[in-house]
Amino acid sequence: MSNQEKLHQKLAKAQLGGGQHRIDSQHGKGKLTARERVHLLLDDGSFEEIGALVTHRTTDFDMQKQVFYGDGVVTGYGTIAGRLVYVFAQDFTVFGGSLSETHAEKICKIMDAALKVGAPLIGLNDSGGARIQEGVRSLGGYADIFYRNVQASGVIPQLSAIMGPCAGGAVYSPAMTDFTIMVENTSYMFVTGPNVVKTVTNEEVTSEELGGASAHSTKSGVTHLTAANDVVCIQKLKRLISYLPQNCEEKPAALPYVLGDELRDQLESIVPESANQPYDMREVITGIIDANSFMEIHEDYADNIVVGFARLAGRSIGIVANQPMSLAGVLDVDSSKKAARFTRTCDCFNVPLLVLVDVPGFLPGTDQEWNGIITNGAKLLYALSEATVPRVTLITRKAYGGAYDVMNSKHIGADMNFAWPGAEIAVMGAKGASEIIFRKEIKAADDQAAKLAEKEQEYGETFANPYRAAERGFIDEVILPKDSRRKLIRSFAMLEHKVVDRPRRKHGNIPL
Ligand code: COA
Repeated sequence: MSNQEKLHQKLAKAQLGGGQHRIDSQHGKGKLTARERVHLLLDDGSFEEIGALVTHRTTDFDMQKQVFYGDGVVTGYGTIAGRLVYVFAQDFTVFGGSLSETHAEKICKIMDAALKVGAPLIGLNDSGGARIQEGVRSLGGYADIFYRNVQASGVIPQLSAIMGPCAGGAVYSPAMTDFTIMVENTSYMFVTGPNVVKTVTNEEVTSEELGGASAHSTKSGVTHLTAANDVVCIQKLKRLISYLPQNCEEKPAALPYVLGDELRDQLESIVPESANQPYDMREVITGIIDANSFMEIHEDYADNIVVGFARLAGRSIGIVANQPMSLAGVLDVDSSKKAARFTRTCDCFNVPLLVLVDVPGFLPGTDQEWNGIITNGAKLLYALSEATVPRVTLITRKAYGGAYDVMNSKHIGADMNFAWPGAEIAVMGAKGASEIIFRKEIKAADDQAAKLAEKEQEYGETFANPYRAAERGFIDEVILPKDSRRKLIRSFAMLEHKVVDRPRRKHGNIPL
């Protein structure tokens, strides 16, 4: 056999992973193979594989008799829309994609390369966990990956797709990356599976119920995105990466944009007359941003706040917005955590922040207090205060109490603060405020209801407007809704070269 034939034979064998019948079984589950996923993810013909001929070194349990090229993970680099990315895709056809010492070494090798070069890392996870035949060597491999995830955090974007099982220690690598996306019905993540749960807590639960895409997108918030199948998952990864830069030293690439549709009349009619009537903040977002550019993150988790990426005149921005349609847009434990995490992700990667405010305050109650609304609300306050990216605020309606401060107020470093004419910037709503400060007068009145209404109006006229804040410069400009897009485009363009120096320190101590 010639050298060329020998090489071809080996590479052809590597292409087959665990063999055709296992590939068929993978397809039978509605899943693509690791290689198919990689090819779908990367630009045509751009994939360069690294370590296709790596094999495991284990001899315990006669493992030398079962050796597959690649050892259960396909690794390498390629491009997405012309941009360099590194990728690893676990191959379920080889020992269930389980992680051996060499499998981990392959992943670590490309993680190191991605960090050296400053390019995003995308992990496609589909694995039965630690290679059971390798014991602690496999556990060491996980820890080697975890450590690198942390070293790379905030330096290069790290994206994790969960496209099959991801259990035990394996969950902690995705958990430490910037984004996780799960495929519905074919993926799950949990620290301990249904059998252990049954033994320890006597709960009966399926894998899907315990750790499927639905559980993690609605209940735990572990996953940022979900996808109906492998193909959609890959499409979403590509879209997500388009909003992010290569690394923390760069800005996200802007798309070409021609000015021309800055006035948006539809913004005039979104906020209802009555202050207590809900409306969909997504309509405001759509009214402001470039057409079809919103990619919502954590869509089904803590829906009283909306976060996501969008484009404004071609530039990538991150949006954090109260959602009056859900719980009147209050801040609570989960929404604070969600918004804080997104804020920090944007700040890491130089994505400017637009904060849209309609917030009546924090959610009251024992549940909230005992679950730490103080610490969790502080996360958002902290995250916004420390963010050095351009930060612009638009108050569409209510900005009450401490939540006014938290939602990217001037006082915590926002660069430009706008309000619509109907905005109410006050310590609380007019009714609540009147009941407290005019209590004695109201009690003494013959017609208490009329007195309350009179005082409510008086308070409202005094404080329930944006002008007191504008007089002090806490609001830079009161603008008409239809003019918002133009004002925001100009603000972000003006802030393009913003530089902020922070005091020297190891790192801040965000209340986790
Ligand atoms: N180590 C070694 N081999 C593993 C493995 C692991 N962690 N997980 C799966 N495999 C192997 C299986 O032995 C099987 O090999 P075989 O076909 O030669 O018998 C192959 O991968 C496919 O696994 P299978 O169990 O048939 O697939 P499934 O889709 O029915 O189930 C899992 C997938 C992940 C639920 C199941 O394989 C499992 O429970 N694995 C162990 C999980 C675990 O406890 N991991 C260690 C702790 S992190």
